[in-house]
Amino acid sequence: MLRETMDLLGPERGGVFLDATVGMGGHAVEALGKMAGKGLLIGIDRDDNALKAARDKLGSEHVVLKKARFSELGGVLDGLGIANVNGALFDLGVSMPQLKVLERGFSFQSEGPLDMRMDPAAELTAADVVNTYSEKELERILREYGEERFSKRIARMIVQRRPIQSAQELAGLVSGVYRKRGKTHPATRAFQALRIEVNSELAELEAGLAAASGRLAAGGRLVVISYHSLEDRIVKHFFRGAQARGEARILTKKPLTPGDAEVRENPAARSAKLRALERAA
Ligand SMILES: C[S@@+](CC[C@H](N)C(=O)[O-])C[C@H]1O[C@@H](n2cnc3c(N)ncnc32)[C@H](O)[C@@H]1O
Repeated sequence: MLRETMDLLGPERGGVFLDATVGMGGHAVEALGKMAGKGLLIGIDRDDNALKAARDKLGSEHVVLKKARFSELGGVLDGLGIANVNGALFDLGVSMPQLKVLERGFSFQSEGPLDMRMDPAAELTAADVVNTYSEKELERILREYGEERFSKRIARMIVQRRPIQSAQELAGLVSGVYRKRGKTHPATRAFQALRIEVNSELAELEAGLAAASGRLAAGGRLVVISYHSLEDRIVKHFFRGAQARGEARILTKKPLTPGDAEVRENPAARSAKLRALERAA
């Protein structure tokens, strides 16, 4: 949803543009091109590898890239002496390269260690969660973060079979619980749950939304693209709260979703939902 994002954020107007999930720089390079030297692009990501790729793609003119989490965003802006931004983007989740590098353990096919850290320097790994959390905690995570209906059974099996070494081994174990196979891999929900726990994704999102919307200039816009219902729910409630307090106006009554052609080209985009907010003048 590159076009929709650019239409809503209008980087061609210049000013300060914050890409809170700069990743490989796909959205950022487009924004930078449209800014045509008229403003500043600040890109953050918690993954050093992504930042390196973004640096190569974006160069250094009119660009500042920083390693940070959403919850550190306010500090990054303070450090740069920036009070307000004109546009902010959150394109949530993991990037294709993060998913595809099997050693990072995000993929069901990965024979490498269970990892799933977006920041490879962070302490907690998926192996720590799977092999050391109590059965009760595992069940809660699977239920709350994966909306997994077999959370109890899967948690029990994990505890019985551990230590579990690889993502592939875990995916096999979870698949065994499902009798019928649907359209998505049976371990999708369990993997989502672990990823959220390992990276504190929901708490990070809440902190990031509060920080970014608090820093929007009058008329500044915030665009969030989410990929699963838990994230989208947080964004929806946050936007409604901001509108109810008279701080902002919701620009997307219903979330925008990708068209058929985009989903055909990039199947990972099929669950994307885009919501946008404009700061009151
Ligand atoms: C879907 S990718 C972004 C892709 C990017 N928009 C592009 O066009 O290349 C999401 C990125 O957000 C980063 N990320 C996710 N949660 C984060 C957080 N809490 N703080 C900082 N970065 C985060 C991930 O490391 C990943 O690189």
